[in-house]
Amino acid sequence: MEQVAQAALELVTDGMQLGLGTGRAAEAFIRALGARVQGGLRVRGVATSVRSEELARSLGIELGTVADTASLDVAFDGADEVTPALDLMKGLGGALLRERVVAALARRFVVLVTPDKLVASLCTRAPVPIEIVPFAVEPVRRSLAALGAEPPVRLAPDGAPYRTDNGNAIVDARFAPLADPAATDAKIRRLPGVVDTGMFLGMADLVLVGSEAAVLRLTRP
Ligand code: A5P
Repeated sequence: MEQVAQAALELVTDGMQLGLGTGRAAEAFIRALGARVQGGLRVRGVATSVRSEELARSLGIELGTVADTASLDVAFDGADEVTPALDLMKGLGGALLRERVVAALARRFVVLVTPDKLVASLCTRAPVPIEIVPFAVEPVRRSLAALGAEPPVRLAPDGAPYRTDNGNAIVDARFAPLADPAATDAKIRRLPGVVDTGMFLGMADLVLVGSEAAVLRLTRP
């Protein structure tokens, strides 16, 4: 993760406003950014989760919110799957909704992954994380089953239902690899009570794929 975090850092210049993602790759970036800030770089971050916000604050990175930030120069985040068209599956870390809100504010959305995240189609290795208001979880699960998914409710480590930073539930819907992700995403989004899905279609501008040996740069075809 260190190599890809350093490659991402090359895109940052003094005075930038940055989206700070959630998960291992994003945290590696936040740590690398923190080291540069301690060396004098001036940036302002908007975090996509309470966890990333706490990490950034502990490293001395100045923080804003989506309420007081009209636009960001670059948003940096991880992903669970990346297709050749740079469509993404996100949300195994539970921050999908805030990640989408922050990415949508950014002029450039840069994604940091390891090579194992590259897939031919979405739903090859990951489920579709779906954020749902708690009241609607069971009706949505029945509808997802009717759409052909296996829809387990995500649980916290203590066995209680997982809750996002927004107080919502997550269902990790397992589909067969998706031939038409936009169509499946639209069907899921129409279900009452669904707040967001982990499918980030047509949003990534650049994907940095990092391994020990090299960092590969993928741009949208
Ligand atoms: C968080 O909700 C997710 O979207 C993460 O960005 C994604 O799960 C990738 O996380 P890792 O970098 O930890 O694999």
